[in-house]
Amino acid sequence: MRRIYMDHSATTCVDPSVLQKMLPFFSEKYGNPNSVHAWGREVRTAIDEARASVARLLNAEPREILFTGGGSEADNLAIKGVAESLSGKGRHVITSAIEHHAVLDTVKWLGKAGFDVTVLPVDSEGRVRVEDFRAAIRPDTILATVMYANNEVGTVQPIRELGEICREKGILFHTDAVQAAGHLPLDVRDLPVDLLTMAAHKMYGPKGVGALYVRKGVRIAPLVHGGGQEFGLRSGTENTAGIVGFGAAAELAARRIANGEIDKERRLRDRLIDGVLSRIEDVLLTGHRTERLPFHASFCIRYIEGEAMLLRLDFAGIGASSGSACTSGSLEPSYVLLAMGLDHATAHGSLRLTLGKDTTEEDIDTILETLPPIVGNLRAMSPFKKNA
Ligand SMILES: Cc1ncc(COP(=O)(O)O)c(C=O)c1O
Repeated sequence: MRRIYMDHSATTCVDPSVLQKMLPFFSEKYGNPNSVHAWGREVRTAIDEARASVARLLNAEPREILFTGGGSEADNLAIKGVAESLSGKGRHVITSAIEHHAVLDTVKWLGKAGFDVTVLPVDSEGRVRVEDFRAAIRPDTILATVMYANNEVGTVQPIRELGEICREKGILFHTDAVQAAGHLPLDVRDLPVDLLTMAAHKMYGPKGVGALYVRKGVRIAPLVHGGGQEFGLRSGTENTAGIVGFGAAAELAARRIANGEIDKERRLRDRLIDGVLSRIEDVLLTGHRTERLPFHASFCIRYIEGEAMLLRLDFAGIGASSGSACTSGSLEPSYVLLAMGLDHATAHGSLRLTLGKDTTEEDIDTILETLPPIVGNLRAMSPFKKNA
């Protein structure tokens, strides 16, 4: 049976070209980059090159990139780092209801630490309304954090408009771009963001390594204290192989964007979306139709239980998800879908299919042949059945 992995939003494979670059750093090139001898200097040079590659992907300066232990850590560093650094100026933070838990739980923690938090609602397509955002800003607001694109429904936020408001009001703006980085062109010289989170494992790099872009002149406090690595903002001997892998993944992403491979992915995504909507009744596309990640398709299939559908798909060799990898397995419907105004029963039928660089037209056709009978079968025995 041919197996088709359609959960690239959860994580991707390490590309073979990335792995090749990483391998020597586990064995021959094992020096500590903070050592002055040749072993250390060789590794320091590799880290500098990786930093330059990640910076190039964002059109940032290398000095503006901090390597972290993943996307969650970069989100924590951005939010807690700004909150601590600017707590004397104000104690109000703005976010949206559909952020990843790495952001939502961090701002919740700030709430317990005496900060005031405004959590903005979203519209039925998962977008923050620009007017709500503007209205939420107060004289004591120090930071707004709104994700670039949502992991569960793929919606891309109006980041430029939100960032421009922050500029005008003199507050810092952070965006969690874990899902967007490497898949959409991002240019921080052009985009009004001050801090931006990335994770290598969502763009064909290794797990456990991320980066925080911090615009020159923005001061944040560290979370991890110690030897003063990463410009004093993230202590600890560097994850050399991971960082080198992130650099190689950034180069791969830049090539893929330049070669139009993302447009190819977008066409396949549209074939999948149109196919699902036309072949199955009572299905709705969740998230925005066009302002969405190029590799992301997500639906709610009415009158069925999403988990049962995932198991049937898995049995048929198709790896899908009900939304986020972190909330799969929980019986609670997704907070993202509820925030978009969906009712519990509809939200229970959620299905996320996220394409990767090797997904083919044939894969999409197989999914379009496999899914409708699974849905039909589940509906036939569903307690939520139409007219039941
Ligand atoms: C939008 C978003 N933010 C943050 C994260 C967390 O990243 P990591 O798993 O690298 O900690 C994820 C991972 O799923 C994500 O999708």
